[in-house]
Amino acid sequence: MKPPKALQPLIEDGIIDEVLYALLSGKEASVYAVRCGRQVRCAKVYKEAFRRSFKKAAQYQEGRKVRNSRRARAMEKRSRFGREQQEEAWQSAEVNALYRLERAGVRVPKPYGCFDGVLLMEMIVDADGDVASRLNDVTMSPEQAREDHALMMHYIQLMLCAGMVHGDLSEFNVLVDEYGPVIIDLPQAVDAAANNNARAMLARDVDNITTYYSQYAPELAATRYADEMWDLYEDGELTPESELSGEFTDAAGAADVDGVMLAIKAALEEEQERQERLREADDD
Ligand SMILES: Nc1ncnc2c1ncn2[C@@H]1O[C@H](COP(=O)(O)OP(=O)(O)O)[C@@H](O)[C@H]1O
Ligand SMILES: [Mg+2]
Repeated sequence: MKPPKALQPLIEDGIIDEVLYALLSGKEASVYAVRCGRQVRCAKVYKEAFRRSFKKAAQYQEGRKVRNSRRARAMEKRSRFGREQQEEAWQSAEVNALYRLERAGVRVPKPYGCFDGVLLMEMIVDADGDVASRLNDVTMSPEQAREDHALMMHYIQLMLCAGMVHGDLSEFNVLVDEYGPVIIDLPQAVDAAANNNARAMLARDVDNITTYYSQYAPELAATRYADEMWDLYEDGELTPESELSGEFTDAAGAADVDGVMLAIKAALEEEQERQERLREADDD
């Protein structure tokens, strides 16, 4: 096919040799099958920044480290330069996330770098060499659902151990090849320790994936992996080896409520005594 404008510089630089065809394009990017030598890879071209709602970007950007302070100031000022810098930070976020996750043992497409805002990565294919299906288009037996759900929970655990939450995980951002699920679409991955929304995003990611697999294995719906993981993570106890059960009781929360009630009661009693003392003083 005729190469789209965004891919032309990569062809000129010899990074890709040919654009083969366009894959299904999502809400934030267009993805193309490209030939690099004898390899077929995916090239992900991000759509223009203005198409993303600013609010969403701000929510995700929170806690993302920008080391250079001039850069940080520019991002705050939202000058033209600042917008460009922010766009660049957003785009390199995905390739950086892929490198980190690959190292952490999470199955993601192998990254081959980010050039002029275009992400080059391994194309995930099925047993016949065709582009792999999205989880959303895959039906399965209860056994397969239980096995893949457990694997996805393990990947989410490994991500959290690496300090990351996907932030947009669902059956639309998981591909399935002959070895199992592969996680994609990570430009919005958040820093688990620095982002106030990290816990809520983890809960939503886990919930989306659990809801999907529980269509085939209904008992999965009762599992509480997000709470269990976050509890351990917060206490600095989550490791790649932590064995999770999927069970969680809100015992700690309940005890806290009791504690608060006791404190309120004590404060009220103290206040009552103080009033009594004041009255006694008045009577004197
Ligand atoms: N590495 C890949 N291998 C095969 N298909 C891919 C790959 N990356 C993306 N795709 C396809 O392109 C679609 C859009 O990519 P995605 O990264 O999810 O971007 P968006 O932000 O637009 O949703 C995916 O749903 C998937 O069908
Ligand atoms: Mg997507």
